[in-house]
Amino acid sequence: MKIFITGGNGQVGFELQRSLSSYGTIVAPSRSVLDLMDLEAVEQFLSVEQPDLIVNAAAWTAVDLAEKEHESAYRLNAELPKLLADYAALKSIWLVHYSSDYVYPGNGVAMWREGDMTAPLSIYGKSKLAGDKAVVASGAQFLIFRTSWVYGARGNNFMKTMLRLGAQRDSLSVVSDQVGAPTPARLISQVSAMSIDRVLSGGGFEKGIYHLAPTGSTNWCDFSKEIFQLAEQAGMPIKISQASVSAIKTEEYPTPAARPLNSRLNVEKLEKALSITLPSWKDQLKLTLSEYLSTRGTN
Ligand SMILES: NC(=O)c1ccc[n+]([C@@H]2O[C@H](COP(=O)([O-])OP(=O)(O)OC[C@H]3O[C@@H](n4cnc5c(N)ncnc54)[C@H](OP(=O)(O)O)[C@@H]3O)[C@@H](O)[C@H]2O)c1
Repeated sequence: MKIFITGGNGQVGFELQRSLSSYGTIVAPSRSVLDLMDLEAVEQFLSVEQPDLIVNAAAWTAVDLAEKEHESAYRLNAELPKLLADYAALKSIWLVHYSSDYVYPGNGVAMWREGDMTAPLSIYGKSKLAGDKAVVASGAQFLIFRTSWVYGARGNNFMKTMLRLGAQRDSLSVVSDQVGAPTPARLISQVSAMSIDRVLSGGGFEKGIYHLAPTGSTNWCDFSKEIFQLAEQAGMPIKISQASVSAIKTEEYPTPAARPLNSRLNVEKLEKALSITLPSWKDQLKLTLSEYLSTRGTN
């Protein structure tokens, strides 16, 4: 089986290359080989490679830049998934696609369910929602995993930024009124592999949209404190003290793109479909941090 993974150098795509390697031959061209903004080139690539499964982990993830670069964000986040989904429908193959908590309006405190009303606050969120809609409308066999606050041992992400700042700074202000679950790229790839295994073996896993995140929730400020505490326990040079991390409101840290305050995702649908219990975000942070420590210097 030939598996086409887009964004194979990204946080999720890199982990997918590892998790899916036992299912077939991975084709994951880098940006220099296949520029995904060039949709004609993507079509050409598909017709030459003829994949049996497509896993679309590429995206325009520069949330603030998307406010300026609408066209590019829509090309990557909406037109590309449409093209891939149309191809998957034509060839009767599965498409696995990733989406975001940013498709929801972020109001209230309840956990979002997959059928809830969407109302993105930003261009990034709107472009991701347009991608989801195109995949659903395509008639393809698809899995869309909506996830939140992705981080990992590799790539640029909040955990790694905090480890750097915690070693340099005496004090730090971190937003505390955005609530969600930090999700390791590795967890996403492992659950994706389980789901792909099910659909390929006809194991009764229905196509559709699923939330994929660890259980529990936190805010960015408490997440940073947990990172500092665990890093210190692991012997990392953390200079900052817990007391020197100040909680601030989103309005005190203005960004071009609005962020949802409530990013809590209800993951019951996925847990039920796979008969699994997703781990807690705290346990996942411990794992991810120890992975980071053991691979430091290589990522
Ligand atoms: N990051 C988050 O916090 C977050 C939260 C919720 C949902 N998600 C969703 O989760 C999925 C995976 O996100 P991620 O964090 O793994 O993203 P990421 O680390 O930013 O990776 C994105 C990948 O897309 C590739 N890409 C972008 N433009 C390209 C182009 N023109 N041609 C070829 N490749 C291109 C990048 O290539 P290069 O390596 O060359 O840059 C990179 O490999 C996405 O669908 C994202 O929307 C992410």
